[in-house]
Amino acid sequence: MTTVSHLECSACGKRRVAGAIHNLCECGGPLLVRYDLGKAKTAWKRETIFNGPSSMWRYAPVLPVRDPGFVVSLGEGMTPLLAAARLGALLGAKNLWVKDEGLNPTGSFKARGLSCAISMCKELGIRKVAIPSAGNAAGALAAYAAAAGLEAHIFVPRDVPQSNYIECRAFGARVTLVDGLISDCARMVAERKDAEGWFDISTLKEPYRIEGKKTMGYEVAEQLGWALPDAIFYPAGGGVGLIGMWKAFDEMEQLGWISSHRPKMIAVQAAGCQPVVRAFEHGESKSQFWQGAHTLAAGLRVPKPLGDALMLSAIRQSGGTAIAVSDQELLDASLELSALEGIFAAPEGGACVAALRKLLANSFLKAHERIVIYNTGAGLKYLEAYSTRFPRTASSEQDKLGGLITPR
Ligand SMILES: Cc1ncc(COP(=O)(O)O)c(C=O)c1O
Ligand SMILES: [Zn+2]
Repeated sequence: MTTVSHLECSACGKRRVAGAIHNLCECGGPLLVRYDLGKAKTAWKRETIFNGPSSMWRYAPVLPVRDPGFVVSLGEGMTPLLAAARLGALLGAKNLWVKDEGLNPTGSFKARGLSCAISMCKELGIRKVAIPSAGNAAGALAAYAAAAGLEAHIFVPRDVPQSNYIECRAFGARVTLVDGLISDCARMVAERKDAEGWFDISTLKEPYRIEGKKTMGYEVAEQLGWALPDAIFYPAGGGVGLIGMWKAFDEMEQLGWISSHRPKMIAVQAAGCQPVVRAFEHGESKSQFWQGAHTLAAGLRVPKPLGDALMLSAIRQSGGTAIAVSDQELLDASLELSALEGIFAAPEGGACVAALRKLLANSFLKAHERIVIYNTGAGLKYLEAYSTRFPRTASSEQDKLGGLITPR
């Protein structure tokens, strides 16, 4: 199954054994999983991938789980890559695609990372897990923990979308609503985890969520006939998907599956929380904590991503960019995507559409380029945000009762 060989610190390069419990390196750097890609290359051919499961686990040789019996799957991955010709015509992009991650279990791409992380918890004998989250990662963790029979402790901002709060409760997790941001939630997990015996599943503080998320990169290559697009739009909070896809591209090149051509990686943030954009524009290798972070694209409300250095380095190496859009722009763009393509996206996905419009207008991107937008979640998870655009007012006493089918 897996060809995992060891773990390696992304900052200092120190190696660790695979198959043991790890969080961060003692230098503070996130750990990355490494594989024996030479072995994978001889034993595994891209032509036979379609024989595997119709989920991200078709890429099991480059995922860390040793025994298929430990895999906790709810059918995550292999999301559709949809041609978006009508939206493309409006924006002036002739070769536009949307990878619709809203169709994952729990309605977001977070399912990929948490399927992998919880599978590894099972393999490593971990029984209690804790996560600070902007919302969707909490819902996904709660679902996979339920499926694996683990105890889940969730820390989310008090104003987290209602869908996330309810799904976590429905999956049986213990939920703490925190008066603050994901950074405050993270501090609470860090303070309590040792006394409580929790394994910390914070973004990049354990090495396996990134492995699940990197499968978005394998899939886009497979779905485009093993040619990568010219540009990828990714709504970046913690940035794990972007870092993961960048890692996947290197692995695929070493497997001999793709050429050295890389997409321009474009990180999209919200105007009210744009630490990565600011660092990119100032030529810095790390971001500064963004004070007073606010946006209705809840997943983008990450004031200081732990993986900022990895993200900035991938964006720069790829010749990409980082760009912010306002809440109004991202909601407008999301509704254009809905009305023109039938894809009801998360506001984070809408942010990518708004960013695409800007980068076509300033000629950073050309009309003929093959562009893939990641819609990272389902619009249905954000009813509070979208109801600002579609308020319902009761027009009669009968309407106020709601749901009664009666003659008028
Ligand atoms: C829908 C959605 N999009 C994007 C993000 C940001 O993801 P990442 O932390 O991988 O940058 C999140 C994170 O919560 C999210 O829920
Ligand atoms: Zn290190």
